[in-house]
Amino acid sequence: MTSANLLITGGAGFIGSHVVKLFVKKYAHYQVYNLDKLTYAGNLENLADIEEYPNYHFIKGDIQDFSHLQELFEKYQFQGVIHLAAESHVDRSIQNPTEFINTNILGTVNLLHAARNCWNDQQSHRFYHISTDEVFGSIEEPDLFVETTAYDPQSPYSASKASSDHFVRAFHNTYGLPVIISNCSNNYGPYQFPEKLIPLCINNIKNLLPIPVYGQGLNVRDWLYVEDHALAIDLLYHGGRIGETYNIGGNHQCRNIDLVKTLCQIMDRKLSRSSGESENLIRFVKDRAGHDLRYAIDCSKIREELSWSPSVTLETGLEQTVEWYLNNQTWLDHVTSGHYQNYYQEQYHHR
Ligand code: NAD
Ligand code: TYD
Repeated sequence: MTSANLLITGGAGFIGSHVVKLFVKKYAHYQVYNLDKLTYAGNLENLADIEEYPNYHFIKGDIQDFSHLQELFEKYQFQGVIHLAAESHVDRSIQNPTEFINTNILGTVNLLHAARNCWNDQQSHRFYHISTDEVFGSIEEPDLFVETTAYDPQSPYSASKASSDHFVRAFHNTYGLPVIISNCSNNYGPYQFPEKLIPLCINNIKNLLPIPVYGQGLNVRDWLYVEDHALAIDLLYHGGRIGETYNIGGNHQCRNIDLVKTLCQIMDRKLSRSSGESENLIRFVKDRAGHDLRYAIDCSKIREELSWSPSVTLETGLEQTVEWYLNNQTWLDHVTSGHYQNYYQEQYHHR
């Protein structure tokens, strides 16, 4: 197989680091370039086990900087792009939407432009954009998001991702850029920044801190183990059809309160606490503004076309995730120092 340069953006983040590790280890003939700004969410410790691989290269950079992107595309002649860099947390987008517009929308358009400028022979390339099921908004029981579900984003985060998806499609329709998009449900697993529900719960339970459950905890999310997402990304990058969109999900919907109680039970067992001790930490707090009630996704398209389906059950994935966080206190200490911000640290409203 011929050697090729692959650009992965956001590879120091949660999902990106799993994708970079998979590609670097599995495809020795790819030179993998990880472009990351190293925001609060980017951490090179996530990539420690591959940093010495000869086919791995880190570039510190910002996708908002078009001339840097143009330079990189000219220098490395990337054959493909897997674009994960983004501001990814809904609560932060509610506090300050501007950075979400700058990175998620403008940054994506910069990448599209740089690829278009550099790729003369479009067909030997591909631009794979990683997106979220949150672009579809909330969906009522028993319906599922399919690839043709109309976009209805509700938060500044999902609005910025929806906009970037539209630009990716526009570059395909208008300029023939060879793009693929996937919209995935909630990921969890090792290396997720503890502002997101699952690692936040694990961290708080471990430290006997209150567990903030927004509203009544009745919101439903579909959960996917991050390594399964990375495997889907591998399959789609290599075998997805150009111009197409694919849904990816865990086939496991769960109400937040049920998920949190399951985590409490796992933690009680692993920390040899008495049964119910961790559940006493649950606090129902003020609901998130514009909180989508239910996400649920149909991923039969990727299953039928590429034989992908989630391999890790939620039960097993949660056990593995808790185990990882309990064994990686140094990582947690590092990411929770400095920029760490838990939006409900100061305001636990007992109901
Ligand atoms: P993350 O916040 O953990 O990581 C984002 C990474 O992007 C970080 O390493 C950060 O440093 C980098 N980054 C941010 N702004 C940048 C910029 N301007 N230039 C270069 N790098 C920048 O995010 P994640 O959870 O790993 O999500 C990765 C992608 O997957 C995002 O596009 C997100 O929208 C999408 N997604 C996430 C989920 C999920 O549950 N986490 C689900 C579906 C889709
Ligand atoms: P989150 O992990 O932020 O992902 P997303 O908002 O992208 O779905 O939140 C998952 C769900 O958990 C969502 O319904 C909001 C809720 N939630 C809480 O109840 N408490 C928390 O402290 C956090 C961070 C989230």
